[in-house]
Amino acid sequence: MAVPFIDLRRFEEDFLDRWAGRCADIAANTRFVGGPDVAGFEARLAADGGTAHAIGCANGTDAIQLALRALGVGEGDVVIIPDATFWATFEAVVNVGAKVVTVDIDPDDLQMDLAAFRDAVDRYEPAAAILVHLYGWGSARLEEFRALCAERELPLIEDGAQTWGTTWNGRSIYAGAHVSTVSFYPAKVLGACGDAGAVLCNDDALALRIRRLGNHGRTDHYEHGLIGWNSRLGGHEAAWLDLSMDYLDARLGSRRAAAAAYRARLAPLGVRTVAPPEGYVENAYLAVTLHEPEDRPAVEAVLREREIGFGVVYPGAMSRQAAAPPFLIGRIGGEQADLLARGVLNPPLFAGITEAEIDEVVDAFAAALAVGA
Ligand SMILES: Cc1ncc(COP(=O)(O)O)c(C=O)c1O
Repeated sequence: MAVPFIDLRRFEEDFLDRWAGRCADIAANTRFVGGPDVAGFEARLAADGGTAHAIGCANGTDAIQLALRALGVGEGDVVIIPDATFWATFEAVVNVGAKVVTVDIDPDDLQMDLAAFRDAVDRYEPAAAILVHLYGWGSARLEEFRALCAERELPLIEDGAQTWGTTWNGRSIYAGAHVSTVSFYPAKVLGACGDAGAVLCNDDALALRIRRLGNHGRTDHYEHGLIGWNSRLGGHEAAWLDLSMDYLDARLGSRRAAAAAYRARLAPLGVRTVAPPEGYVENAYLAVTLHEPEDRPAVEAVLREREIGFGVVYPGAMSRQAAAPPFLIGRIGGEQADLLARGVLNPPLFAGITEAEIDEVVDAFAAALAVGA
């Protein structure tokens, strides 16, 4: 049986009918940009994210750019980011005119390394730092990152593009952040019917600035106090996301059960899996298996032959990307990020994956390891 890496069509029985109703309502009332669908969704985001404010925007990359711009980061500034993330984190820094310092990851939790980060802060006088929560969990040392940045008065943006639904010490991971960002790209755990994103924070003044920047710098309808751009959230995207939130607990349950099953069943086969650090309940955005770089191609070949989809998230560190050099002014370590890029392999994981499909994936890994043995 073929198993896709991701299948976004496993809708609940009544989902598409309810969606048709929402679409008819939006069209009849021409609520295409902004309006009650967006406001209602933002209120729900803030409530579930545990923050005073949630500002919807066009995508997760814009969310980071909005946060950076609202914090005053721009030309001539330096921003620290982890070397293992999606390219959007790097791009957002460059797009606001700043330069990047990359920091290696901790091989245990695969998140930015705290000691290397501290070194980067001491050496580069950054204007801001971005901590990325990768794979559906965050750093084991999240509170230490937050405390260090607060102590140094260094604005910390938490790129939570991948972590909607993740909890840390019993609260949403976004709740304790100074400012955090989310992506609602369709393949995310909470995904839209197009591109969408949001910025979450508790600071009233920062929230107002973010909202203005994402709406042409408007201070009134035709008064522009800032140079912003158009990064407004559409009505359809907001309505789809709002509707999807009704089903989110069940979807999270399905994903978490699959991620746990992989860990329980692949480890005895000798496959290295990675679990979230203590204190996290993952949203199970991705399951992570790690291989010796020289062994991974053989595992990939068996999975392909058996029509088992998989991901390699991500195949290259940020500091190694072709477009990086002109904008990269420092690199602290990077060996662990390289090793992760050459050894990571993500098995199929999506809401609604069946037990039979998980069996099929586990069998394929068993066969791959038998070939390699
Ligand atoms: C860590 C991270 N940051 C930023 C983004 C960018 O989000 P978007 O694709 O919505 O612009 C993503 C999306 O995949 C991501 O995974």
